[in-house]
Amino acid sequence: MKYSNRITKLNESLTIAISSLARELKAQGKDVLSFSAGEPDFDTPKSIKDEAIRAINSGFTKYTQVSGINELKAAICKKLESQNNLKYEPSEIIVSNGAKHSLFNVFSALIDKDDEVIIPSPYWVTYPELVNYFGGKSVFIETSEEIDFKITPKLLKEVITSKSKLLILTSPSNPTGMVYTKEELEGIYGAIKESNIIIISDEIYEQLVYDNIKFTSPGSINDDMLQRTITINGLSKSTSMTGWRIGYAASKDKKLIKLMDSLQSQSTSNINSITQKASIISLNGDCNADIENFNKEFQKRRDLAHKLINNISNLSVKLPQGAFYLFINISKVNKDSMKFCKDLLEKEGVALVPGIAFGMEGYARFSFACGEEQIKEGIKRIEKYILNLS
Ligand SMILES: Cc1ncc(COP(=O)(O)O)c(C=O)c1O
Repeated sequence: MKYSNRITKLNESLTIAISSLARELKAQGKDVLSFSAGEPDFDTPKSIKDEAIRAINSGFTKYTQVSGINELKAAICKKLESQNNLKYEPSEIIVSNGAKHSLFNVFSALIDKDDEVIIPSPYWVTYPELVNYFGGKSVFIETSEEIDFKITPKLLKEVITSKSKLLILTSPSNPTGMVYTKEELEGIYGAIKESNIIIISDEIYEQLVYDNIKFTSPGSINDDMLQRTITINGLSKSTSMTGWRIGYAASKDKKLIKLMDSLQSQSTSNINSITQKASIISLNGDCNADIENFNKEFQKRRDLAHKLINNISNLSVKLPQGAFYLFINISKVNKDSMKFCKDLLEKEGVALVPGIAFGMEGYARFSFACGEEQIKEGIKRIEKYILNLS
């Protein structure tokens, strides 16, 4: 069979590759501890499940409006205004099957051949793959630990060309957990204000911030930023709803929303009707207590893992401000992150994701979306692995 050029260019996510290897070793009877999860380990709050059951029992099981039911889009608008200081109308929202699907739709609607998409590195693996899929060109901005893995106006200006179309901002970041401050976002605005660059703001980890750090949505900086920002969010991470599949895109450009609506109507149609009803519970704040508990637990685990890893000689890690990942500096042990992760998995049964999957060598990502006992045992094994090398 002759497959399309487009599809054969697509690579399998390296995060999935490591998870599969871990699963394989487990199936062979090896004792494997995985720290590669990209999802909270908590159960979905009961109030959301109850609402889903109500939706099923009341027969809310048919096709809906492609972009989502009005009640859901109104709840999204209310949430964006009250929590993020972003004013959108329901006609400026489209609900899709997870933030990943929202990004797919947005990229599809905006990227033409050779358009440049600026991606700060390290980055979430899906961005460059999708850019590639749509024929665009990824332009990476290399960051470093010294600047908290965040881009600066100077670094941004250096890569802007007449072909620059999109800038992707992920705050809190996967894989580093770093969060942009309001002042930093104002600096970024200063660097792009003379251009036509559109910002794709991936805010999927927005509710997972620690130490009372204030999250700022790029679109809330000023009106020009609101006009040029496409806000992407969803409930996967905040409400532990990864399997329910809900994400959304918000844009002041109603035509863009309409175009994505047409694409979605010809591909997936509306998202699951039951998920739509259930999600309103979270958006309206009716399970805030559960979300608070998730965050408290995550913060405890973050502090524990951060302390234990920094106690291991030759490893170091910055304290993440959000999300549920530690981006560990392994460069004193092995600069080749894939080799490091494979060796660690085979020798000690500990699965981390190599930094190269996020475009940065010398690092490995540790997800603390698992219980404290597993964190302690996993880090003990990492220490043993390092000691045995010397
Ligand atoms: C930065 C980032 N954006 C988007 C997503 C996708 O989330 P969803 O489950 O809503 O598709 C993920 C999931 O890992 C992510 O890490």
